[in-house]
Amino acid sequence: MFLFPFDRYVLLRHLPQSAVAAEIGVAYGRFTRAIVDTTTPAKLHLIDAWRSQDKPELQNDSNNVGQDEQDRRYEGILETYGADIATGRVAVHRAWSHEAAEQFPDGYFDWIYLDADHTYDSVKRDLEAYWPKIKEDGLLLGHDYMWHAKVPFGVIAAVNEFVERHGLTFVGLNTNDMFPSYILARPGSRAARALVADAIVSTACVIELQDYPRRLEFEPRALTHKGKSRVFLGFKAKT
Ligand SMILES: C[S@@+](CC[C@H](N)C(=O)[O-])C[C@H]1O[C@@H](n2cnc3c(N)ncnc32)[C@H](O)[C@@H]1O
Repeated sequence: MFLFPFDRYVLLRHLPQSAVAAEIGVAYGRFTRAIVDTTTPAKLHLIDAWRSQDKPELQNDSNNVGQDEQDRRYEGILETYGADIATGRVAVHRAWSHEAAEQFPDGYFDWIYLDADHTYDSVKRDLEAYWPKIKEDGLLLGHDYMWHAKVPFGVIAAVNEFVERHGLTFVGLNTNDMFPSYILARPGSRAARALVADAIVSTACVIELQDYPRRLEFEPRALTHKGKSRVFLGFKAKT
């Protein structure tokens, strides 16, 4: 596994361009704009329920906004990408993520970016639902491989278990973000090798961690200094 010291906007530069891709969890389209401008997808599926949820775990989630705001966000996406929707380059799916997965044939996507409900059960369900939909040489990425002080994120556990269950390669994490994004692929993936090579030749100080998550455990750590607190990436050997 590689630690890439750039943010997720730079990560987009290293993804397959002109791809068939999906963003799962869109909100008001902040990252969508970067996906479109940086990777010029041949086809981009935008999947979000745009529904206010009363699940207790999501009550402190800043993206679990009221229904009026959800409607405004959905309408905003339709308006912003109206021309691309008309040409078929962008498709908008207002649906629960795991249900939307059923619409796509197996082996359809070059890559997806998962950023919907971050609770353990939902991440696990989305990973399982979308993995078969990705090409043999495709990439599965997702946001928020981190702990959250107020929202019970289950991303780390769900992703690590998924990697081990399917014998996948944990390609890497981008580390110049408060909330890193993870990159997964099948062993021997050419797309993953190209991403890593591209990132290494254009970035100083990429770090490789061997046998993650099999022998190493990610343990985010917290530090308070001069009145400021930060969580940072800690790793320890599994006992
Ligand atoms: C963190 S936001 C997405 C942020 C966006 N990817 C970005 O980086 O700008 C999460 C979004 O996922 C949506 N969402 C949450 N649970 C979902 C589910 N089960 N199915 C579909 N969408 C969901 C929410 O409506 C919200 O808009």
